[in-house]
Amino acid sequence: MVEGTNAQVTITATRGRPDDATVSQVRALAARAHDVDGVAPLSEQPLLRLADPAAPVVHLTARTPGGDLVGYAQVDTEAASAELVVDPPHRRRGTGRTLLDAARTHGAAGTTLKVWAHGDLPPARAFAAATGLAVVRELRKLRLDLATRPDTARRALPPGTTLRTFVPGQDEEAWRRVNARAFAHHPEQGRLTVADVRAREREPWFDPAGFLLAERDGVLVGSVWTKVHPAGTEADAPVGEIYVVGVDPDAQGTGLGAALTSAGLDHLASRGLATVVLYVDADNTAAVRTYDRQGFVRAATDVMLASDTEGSPAGATMGS
Ligand SMILES: CC(C)(COP(=O)(O)OP(=O)(O)OC[C@H]1O[C@@H](n2cnc3c(N)ncnc32)[C@H](O)[C@@H]1OP(=O)(O)O)[C@@H](O)C(=O)NCCC(=O)NCCS
Repeated sequence: MVEGTNAQVTITATRGRPDDATVSQVRALAARAHDVDGVAPLSEQPLLRLADPAAPVVHLTARTPGGDLVGYAQVDTEAASAELVVDPPHRRRGTGRTLLDAARTHGAAGTTLKVWAHGDLPPARAFAAATGLAVVRELRKLRLDLATRPDTARRALPPGTTLRTFVPGQDEEAWRRVNARAFAHHPEQGRLTVADVRAREREPWFDPAGFLLAERDGVLVGSVWTKVHPAGTEADAPVGEIYVVGVDPDAQGTGLGAALTSAGLDHLASRGLATVVLYVDADNTAAVRTYDRQGFVRAATDVMLASDTEGSPAGATMGS
């Protein structure tokens, strides 16, 4: 369906999986923008959803009259959020604005569309100012040099808590339930489904040895999921990530979040990694303090933009 045009491009909307050629063109466009901007314009979830026929998203493509893909936006219709990118040589011609106008018509009724700007780069800030968007949420990327991790930061598991690795095919639903409770107020993380977990299990980075579940009396009360980015993606050497730490609200206040973070870092250190990254909402004070104690420092910032000033929800990496 044609959604809009300007002198430069025609915008088309697709629900369900775009055709194979479009999927590869969007990946190539995102890679070109990453090279020029130094930051990936689309995060993991939209990249996975690009090829998922059942994802609750609308794909908006901006093509020149010759058919070249020069812009792309993906709208999460449930969260009313979007990620948006314009091919660097085709910027400042109104394509971003036309894509944003089309994206705004696809959010849930009565909600304001939120747009992620990864890296909080000057062009995105200028674009936001020109299109009436303001920062409503700040997501920080933190980095830890494992060699500088203070020994005193190690935290033991609370009494009565045991740790084991995730078993694919068995633990998805229990993990989803605790994750949804831990991240009840988080717009993306709290909505992960069993299908989302399975999609990640199929990714080359997935390793159950780095996905640790904390149990009390055989009941799941929290988890730490780690990831290893191969050399050449985050940095020249492989980089670890504390991907998600979640603690069931009933197990809050027992030091489990800190102990799980510590166990995740021990696991990544045992893999010989030198650097670990993670993402956390700037206003999640408990999580920010926990990571600060482990020696994490700020490496980058992503901002969520919207045309109103609604409050920021808590928790990105850590839900408790
Ligand atoms: C942000 C982005 C989508 C803008 O796309 P675009 O097609 O260049 O945007 P438009 O041409 O529609 O720009 C609309 C207005 O935004 C402002 N703007 C956009 N880029 C700007 C820049 N680099 N410097 C100053 N102002 C800028 C201008 O006011 C512009 O109007 P003008 O060209 O008439 O002065 C593009 O730079 C991009 O893909 N960046 C990387 C991904 C990203 O940050 N996405 C998040 C977007 S919130």
